[in-house]
Amino acid sequence: MKICMIGSGYVGLVTGACFAEMGNDVICVDENKEKIDVLNNGGVPIYEPGLKEVIERNVQGNRLRFTTDFNEAVSHCQLCFIAVGTPQDKDGTADLKYVLQVARQIGQVMEDYKVIIDKSTVPVGTADKVRGVVTEELKKRGREHIEFDVVSNPEFLKEGNALQDFMRPERVIIGTDNVRTAALFKELYDPFIRTTNNPILIMDIKSAELAKYASNAFLATKVTFINELAILCDKVGADISQVREGMGTDSRIGPRFLLAGPGYGGSCFPKDVQALIQTAKTMGHSLEICQATHKANQRQKAYFAEKIINYYKEQNADLSEITIAIWGLTFKPKTDDIREAPALDVIEKLLANGINVRVFDPIGMDNARKILGDKITYVDDNYEVLDGADGLAIITEWNMFKSPDLPRIKDLMKIPVIFDGRNILNPSEIKSLGFNYFGIGRG
Ligand SMILES: NC(=O)c1ccc[n+]([C@@H]2O[C@H](COP(=O)([O-])OP(=O)(O)OC[C@H]3O[C@@H](n4cnc5c(N)ncnc54)[C@H](O)[C@@H]3O)[C@@H](O)[C@H]2O)c1
Repeated sequence: MKICMIGSGYVGLVTGACFAEMGNDVICVDENKEKIDVLNNGGVPIYEPGLKEVIERNVQGNRLRFTTDFNEAVSHCQLCFIAVGTPQDKDGTADLKYVLQVARQIGQVMEDYKVIIDKSTVPVGTADKVRGVVTEELKKRGREHIEFDVVSNPEFLKEGNALQDFMRPERVIIGTDNVRTAALFKELYDPFIRTTNNPILIMDIKSAELAKYASNAFLATKVTFINELAILCDKVGADISQVREGMGTDSRIGPRFLLAGPGYGGSCFPKDVQALIQTAKTMGHSLEICQATHKANQRQKAYFAEKIINYYKEQNADLSEITIAIWGLTFKPKTDDIREAPALDVIEKLLANGINVRVFDPIGMDNARKILGDKITYVDDNYEVLDGADGLAIITEWNMFKSPDLPRIKDLMKIPVIFDGRNILNPSEIKSLGFNYFGIGRG
């Protein structure tokens, strides 16, 4: 099928490359010329394991192209995917300006039948807005006879595992109001579910739009539930890992998304929880659990930073003389994405208390620099960053941090204390080597 992917970010690039991998003819378009130049010069502007190889293979096979030329992309395709950002407004509402701008642009240039697909995460009712904007633009040009359909196809890939998620989805959701597009989308996605037999769920558009937010809000709540309990574990002297085992072995609960940490972050959970709350508000309904999730997550992010700060305050240390080395900046491992990463909150809080911060992340340093600038020191090696440090705080659970050379760490640090924000190290081993150790919810 002929596809154009409007927006070549984390979702658009992966989705476009994977559709091409299945033999479709794909153009990815982006208004960011720098991004498109990188792609046309053989680079990849984001870090996602395996993506470079898939892009290279499909560019060579003439199934994948990149352009800033919107007209070229739209006239090329029958399926027009909108995969632009939907950031949150000041009050948490999803900002649809990019989505509706793209819809308008499509209406301004389309000359034949198109299926316009909301791939971005958009609030319930957005498909109607997209339809309205396109119709308006067609009318302005006297082209109201040109037919089009609007489909909701929310994306569930996870950064760091995006290719695998897209190539073998647990489910595909298609929100449509007619059988013609339902059949088209079954054909498009059939190669992705052929080996797993996982379902392609055809549903009404509003339910599809809501299903995406419901999934993210539920997962955010699950993470937050274990985080709240972890604070209680710290207070009563219980171990959250053992509590998790006790809960997670119940098949009704399951062990996933039950790992305590410094709060959820990333480009999706925080904004999607907020947007869902706002959608309900506009309908005169209040989502009490989602509101509590958001509030508890804010507290969780502060909790880890306070744990660090309080440790030195209790020693009566002069905080301006303290240097904390941080391992991990990205909101999760295997991505360069630091949008809403808990590390940013922790760092800001340490800095506000006068503590000096040095950081190491295997992939996320460039993106961190764009946000934090020269407020902190960036060190290119995970051991060098510890040289003379008064504490190590682990914020992202990159594999390379899981079995570190502890004696070497102890030699390098001025004060051997580890704040393990992801509970990835073995407390008894660490303590036996003479470190002070603080996890999250480990008593
Ligand atoms: N990142 C994820 O893990 C993920 C997962 C599922 C769903 N989503 C959703 O997918 C959407 C996109 O997320 P993302 O992380 O890929 O965002 P992103 O910021 O990485 O990419 C968006 C891209 O759209 C481009 N863009 C904006 N306006 C444009 C226009 N008018 N014409 C052409 N290009 C334009 C931007 O330049 C940018 O490259 C969001 O709604 C997000 O919530 C994201």
